[in-house]
Amino acid sequence: GYGYPGELAATLIAENALQEKIRALAAAVAADHDSEQPPLLVCVLKGAVMFVTDFARAMPIPCELEFMAVSSYGSATSSSGVVRILKDLDRDITGRRVVIVEDIIDSGLTLSWLLKNLASRGPAAIDVVALLRKPEAVKVEVEVRYIGFDIPTDFVVGYGLDFAERYRDLPFVGLLGEHMYR
Ligand code: PRP
Ligand code: MN
Ligand code: MG
Repeated sequence: GYGYPGELAATLIAENALQEKIRALAAAVAADHDSEQPPLLVCVLKGAVMFVTDFARAMPIPCELEFMAVSSYGSATSSSGVVRILKDLDRDITGRRVVIVEDIIDSGLTLSWLLKNLASRGPAAIDVVALLRKPEAVKVEVEVRYIGFDIPTDFVVGYGLDFAERYRDLPFVGLLGEHMYR
């Protein structure tokens, strides 16, 4: 993909490290499920799009895919806390074992809102798999069963994560150069 020359300060997590971690996460989630009740993966668009496609293909058991689009950031660099549904699920999740697939937990506001929203629809279980988490930025504690990497609070982009809709197409996670948002 395009490298955005001069815009990134550094690579934080390289492509091969991402893929290795995703295989481990998929194995961990699969170990807690069986093919009698295949997990329904709920990808949180847009950020989790890259993650869910690699994750689903790394799963050693069948899983189903659903997509929900929510936005709390808009073009700002910090979460507003106001979560909007841009696209809802296409089907009923009653009785299903749901696994929310998120790219990153920053303040935790998006996920905490989403957990309450989906829990009210009567699923059999809800777990969360998040590729990245910023422990020092968390404002709302959310129970997350599967975490890929804990990272510092720096502004990260790539592999689905954007700044004003750019950089999602990078195959790795990078640190955005400070001159790009200051
Ligand atoms: C980003 C990211 C997470 C959320 C995390 O989504 O993809 O969904 O923010 O932040 P929080 O823990 O502080 O709530 P965003 O709202 O930017 O939408 P996007 O996925 O379409 O980029
Ligand atoms: Mn998101
Ligand atoms: Mg975003």
